[in-house]
Amino acid sequence: MTNADFERIVDTTDDWIVSRTGIRERRIADNGTSTSDMAVAACQEALKMSGCSHEEIDLLILGTVTPDYRLPSCACVVQEKMGLPNAAAFDVVSACTGFINGLSIANSYIASGHAKKALIVGVEKLSAIVNYKDRNTCVLFGDGAGAAVVAGDDSGRGVLSTFMRSDGKMREMLWIKAGGTTHQYSAEHAASGADKVLMNGSEIFKVAVKEMANAVWHVMEDAGIDQSQVSLVVPHQANIRIIEALARRLKVDKDKVYINISKYGNTSAASVPIALDEAYREGRIKEGDHIVMVAFGGGLIWGSALVKW
Ligand code: ACO
Repeated sequence: MTNADFERIVDTTDDWIVSRTGIRERRIADNGTSTSDMAVAACQEALKMSGCSHEEIDLLILGTVTPDYRLPSCACVVQEKMGLPNAAAFDVVSACTGFINGLSIANSYIASGHAKKALIVGVEKLSAIVNYKDRNTCVLFGDGAGAAVVAGDDSGRGVLSTFMRSDGKMREMLWIKAGGTTHQYSAEHAASGADKVLMNGSEIFKVAVKEMANAVWHVMEDAGIDQSQVSLVVPHQANIRIIEALARRLKVDKDKVYINISKYGNTSAASVPIALDEAYREGRIKEGDHIVMVAFGGGLIWGSALVKW
């Protein structure tokens, strides 16, 4: 869906969207495609790249705020569709931080010996929860999925540090008011748009830049890695201006920050693994490189991970 497509449905312009967000187009899944279908496509690619068998995966963690059903978890649907007979499967509801939180959990399970090979997928069908009459939000979001296989070894490579924080006080900055148990779904809610994403963009902007920078510094300090040793920062792709402000705050050159927002918009939990995958396929990540992933989202919630590739 291009900016020109939005010019036809809300009062906006390509120029406004590009200058305020950096977004030019997003991918929108068709009606017949569910979140689990996108997750399966990404998981199949990740398994193929890793060389692991379906039987070896003993943990499946799925980050999403747009599951197929309210019950059961989307992870259980993916576990069945993928055919992972030995996997414990569950969702993490951490919005844009879903993949990083999943990675952090998988790292802990593997480090403690409770799992050997984990499949982590960040996936969203945000088009199902976006209000296409609200120009403040609808131009920002897209659908997508990204996945990774994580396994333990003693090579010294892998996850060196992770960091997770939340602040529920700010939950109404980015939320879907109706449809849960506090405000159960009603026709009035649907008519007012309260069953779709509501957001205070400018407030989120300020918190996002500050806390993402803190999260990056935290994992570097924890792992004893100097900023000059970091080859690439892979941030959540919410807004080009947030990413640029983050780079300035970190005093990192923009060419050390991976950016692909123009093609996808904000895909929430899928954003970091899609960016990671594209960076890898473009040759921007090589064995031994130190990579920092960092994300921020509704909750509010934020987190980071420092990986030696
Ligand atoms: N087209 C044209 N005008 C628009 C549009 C649009 N699509 N959307 C808003 N406007 C208007 C507003 O109505 C407002 O008009 P007004 O001054 O007449 O009231 C004007 O543009 C300015 O609005 P602001 O909100 O001040 O614009 P801002 O420069 O802050 O940009 C934006 C808005 C892009 C949403 C920005 O605040 C942002 O990106 N914030 C972060 C949001 C975000 O990243 N959320 C997700 C993070 S968490 C997660 O990823 C799940």
